[in-house]
Amino acid sequence: MTHNIPFLVVITGASRGIGLELVRQYAQQGLSNGRFCKVIATCRDPENAPQLQALAEDVRRNGNDNIVIRELDVTNQDSVQAFKSSLRGRSIDILINNAGMYGSNAPLLPVDIEQWHEVFHLNCVSPVYLTQQLLENLKQSQLGKVVTISSDMGSITNNTGGGAYLYRSSKAALNAAMYSLSLDVKEFGITVMMLHPGHVKTDMGGPNAKISVEESASGLRKTIDDVSLDDSGAFRNWKGESMPW
Ligand SMILES: NC(=O)c1ccc[n+]([C@@H]2O[C@H](COP(=O)([O-])OP(=O)(O)OC[C@H]3O[C@@H](n4cnc5c(N)ncnc54)[C@H](OP(=O)(O)O)[C@@H]3O)[C@@H](O)[C@H]2O)c1
Repeated sequence: MTHNIPFLVVITGASRGIGLELVRQYAQQGLSNGRFCKVIATCRDPENAPQLQALAEDVRRNGNDNIVIRELDVTNQDSVQAFKSSLRGRSIDILINNAGMYGSNAPLLPVDIEQWHEVFHLNCVSPVYLTQQLLENLKQSQLGKVVTISSDMGSITNNTGGGAYLYRSSKAALNAAMYSLSLDVKEFGITVMMLHPGHVKTDMGGPNAKISVEESASGLRKTIDDVSLDDSGAFRNWKGESMPW
């Protein structure tokens, strides 16, 4: 009976790239077991997110009304509080912290401290803050999954190239913080995972990246389904393989 109730999936950074494709796949295909989903697709500026607007319109034209677009700047506390208020009392089944930025790839010197703070805030602090703020919604879910799109560049073991100080450090710290969160929320039945999406053809990944957004998002969806509470705290790639810290 409860199978008729759609799962609620919240995705940040849904205006383009991997976030947009995750919205498309969850809205059109649901979970890999076919369970229907409603998606709250969040972005900083919905009026200037033409790909997301077009997707929502397309899905509507096909008789589904399961994409809701909401404004959310994950780095702005007022914006997060407004978003939280809009969801009061609702259960969130899957929260996908996807919004992220690369920042400058400059060599060690000079250090751009302003930009380092910006990258760190968006990639590391914001996903933890948003998750904490939505904890009551996640607790209400039978599924309760927190997914954070991390990166193999956050792996210290896999760092053979050096450089990318801003991005690497923000994703490594993100993994550390989310791992702690996984331990703290396990008692509520909430599963936490950090996923590397692959090197993906997006604005961030560039045109020479190895895989398409479609391949990345469908692998991520399957991995999200497969990771259970027993595996909480896992760092995996889009194929479901374990990643070294
Ligand atoms: N592409 C890759 O090869 C790759 C590899 C490893 C990990 N990742 C990770 O995958 C995630 C998605 O990356 P992508 O390749 O899809 O990047 P992308 O195409 O550059 O898209 C980034 C998304 O983040 C959003 N965003 C940026 N700042 C934001 C803020 N303050 N609040 C809310 N949203 C914000 C952007 O929104 P606007 O449109 O408003 O700017 C956009 O939707 C990121 O966490 C990234 O680190 C990507």
